[in-house]
Amino acid sequence: MSYPRECWYVAATIDEVGDDFLARRILGTPVVLYRLADGSIAALEDRCAHRPYPLSAGSRDGDCIICGYHGCTYDPDGTCVRVPSQDKPPLGARVRAFPVHVSGPFVWLWMGTPGSARLRPPAATPELASEGDWSSTGERRRVGAGFLLLHEHYLDLTNVFEMHAEMVPPGIEALPPPEEVEISEVSVSYARELPQAPLAPWESAVSGLDSAETFSRRETGTFVTPGLHRQTYTIGGADGPLLELVRLHGFTPETERTTHVFLQLAWRGTAVAADAGPRLAEVFHLMADRDSAVLETVQRCLDEDEAPRRYVNVKADRAAIRARRIVQSMIREEQGL
Ligand code: FES
Repeated sequence: MSYPRECWYVAATIDEVGDDFLARRILGTPVVLYRLADGSIAALEDRCAHRPYPLSAGSRDGDCIICGYHGCTYDPDGTCVRVPSQDKPPLGARVRAFPVHVSGPFVWLWMGTPGSARLRPPAATPELASEGDWSSTGERRRVGAGFLLLHEHYLDLTNVFEMHAEMVPPGIEALPPPEEVEISEVSVSYARELPQAPLAPWESAVSGLDSAETFSRRETGTFVTPGLHRQTYTIGGADGPLLELVRLHGFTPETERTTHVFLQLAWRGTAVAADAGPRLAEVFHLMADRDSAVLETVQRCLDEDEAPRRYVNVKADRAAIRARRIVQSMIREEQGL
């Protein structure tokens, strides 16, 4: 197993879940999500208890799901409440129901040990709350690469010179290695200051600032949990931050080698162009396209390698290596090793 299970993961965005069934494989398990009459969200294992048939292929009776094969009916807690061919359902007939937590645009799911979800709330994402001075936009995609490859990729942004050269402020030839790497038992983060430089075209477009002037930038990246990665990018002026940008990635393993990516961008500041939202969405969508293509190639190379081989690490890999160790230690703990 290459991912921990005792963790909240983003299963969907709030606008994806409605009266119709949303079927999605999460941590290798088929899940069906749907909205109940009171507005809350139910998440059940998407397999009938009778035969291996997806509940999402059935229909609704109020808040219950009727299996489309022989008609067994399940309530939102996963209990089988009706079997058409007999008086009562078999004792204990049920499918697993997963705890759901909605926060901002994210619908979080707990697929770990039943009953332990309340011990660890999902990671906070205050930038995505509907109140406050942040604005946000987002997108979802599926990437054909293991979720840890994505965490590692975003913990080392020195790839921007090769992959996203137009994003780099003019005159900056190389990203310095992270100046600060903060490590705790369960998270790792880095920060670096960029030298004063004029604005890249995307920066002046989203901020409305004069591209001829020079500005500072501070960049941070945090492996918050296995399910959430946070990056910040702040353009600073003489009197403090002018534009703060937060890129949040919900990374949710679909399988060992595929990942659901829930990208949310949030921004605020005194220098924000009127059309900053669509411009940021366009810029970061293009970046995500390129990132996905490279990560899928890395995954393919890993799969093709006949024997595991060691790859060389460089200074910029420090945070990524730490994140990998955290994930490995969580998996070992879950396996009781
Ligand atoms: S497979 Fe669902 S009721 Fe038979």
